[in-house]
Amino acid sequence: MADRPLLIAAIPGDGTGPEVTAEAMKVLAAVAKREGIAYEVETLDWGGDRYLRTGETIPEGGLDLLRSKDAIFLGAIGHPNVAPGILEKGLLLDLRFQLDQYINLRPVKLLPGVETPLAGRGPDDIDFVVVRENTEDLYCGVGGFLKKGTPDEVAVQQAIYTRKGCERCIRWAFEYTRRRNSPKKTLTLVAKTNVLTFGHDLWWRTFQDVAKEYPDVKTDYNHVDACCMWMVKNPDAYDVIVTTNMFGDIITDLGGILQGGMGVAAGANLNPDVQSSGRRGVSMFEPMGGSAPKYTGLNQINPIAAINAMAMLLEHTGHPAAGLRIDKAIAHVTGTKMKSQAAGKMGHGTKEIGDLVVAGL
Ligand code: IPM
Ligand code: MN
Repeated sequence: MADRPLLIAAIPGDGTGPEVTAEAMKVLAAVAKREGIAYEVETLDWGGDRYLRTGETIPEGGLDLLRSKDAIFLGAIGHPNVAPGILEKGLLLDLRFQLDQYINLRPVKLLPGVETPLAGRGPDDIDFVVVRENTEDLYCGVGGFLKKGTPDEVAVQQAIYTRKGCERCIRWAFEYTRRRNSPKKTLTLVAKTNVLTFGHDLWWRTFQDVAKEYPDVKTDYNHVDACCMWMVKNPDAYDVIVTTNMFGDIITDLGGILQGGMGVAAGANLNPDVQSSGRRGVSMFEPMGGSAPKYTGLNQINPIAAINAMAMLLEHTGHPAAGLRIDKAIAHVTGTKMKSQAAGKMGHGTKEIGDLVVAGL
């Protein structure tokens, strides 16, 4: 790790992406100084504006450039003048797929001072992690139309599940649950085995098989619909959830609002496998919220999610102490300095929140 500086590619992206990225980078600079971390950031102008100018989402040679880095920081993508799906598929999903970032790690943690819509619940009740498979399922883009545009039109959209794909995700989730070592030490599989009797049968059988290698980890199973109820009713019952790509997408928005919304929720797209270079795959860290175009340039968007994503980046690139230092500073700021996590209602501007986190380091 220490044989070269930490190499980060930053894709600030669209809308408020650049503003929140700037705050995350400000915090990175400050924590790197305190922890003695050498790093270099290369900023890439990928996103909606570039697409409108050049027609490219990931430019020629872009993937190789990213493969030469240790991590990617992604601000936000989504541009009001670009049709829905183009940037999502051409940039975000393509990066996840091409870089084989098969784990989407989404902590659901209520920080001090942050409001949750769940009445009577506090930080002790909401602290679990969703491990979402990130390269298969309905996200593969397999399907097609028949008789498109006619009254007899047929649309097919297929979910792909492979033994390799679910097994590596499930195994990683078991390892993670073991490492997290919470008193519950429980991994819950969330799927829909009563209806998806092929694909989720594969998940179920694989989960049972892999579980045998982790006798110290307790296991549980929830159908995804029931999980949505339990997340609201008994969030404190969860430790780690492992689930499929599509269900993971849905339940992590529910998780996001339980932890105070898109102003705070962050995620990591991980390729944890050691590559032929001897290094781990390049992983990507992002705030979960979108590009929030209506707040662009107003210094009103909440940068906490992006700063959270930066903490995850450091934690997963061999700098856990730096990550923890940021986590503590964030908790101090949400707990004592912010009125709300909603854009424009924080009691401070975007840049001031970044400054407060830096001061709290
Ligand atoms: C997410 C987002 C993406 C997804 C969209 C933007 C394609 O909702 O990261 O959860 O569905 O994975
Ligand atoms: Mn989503």
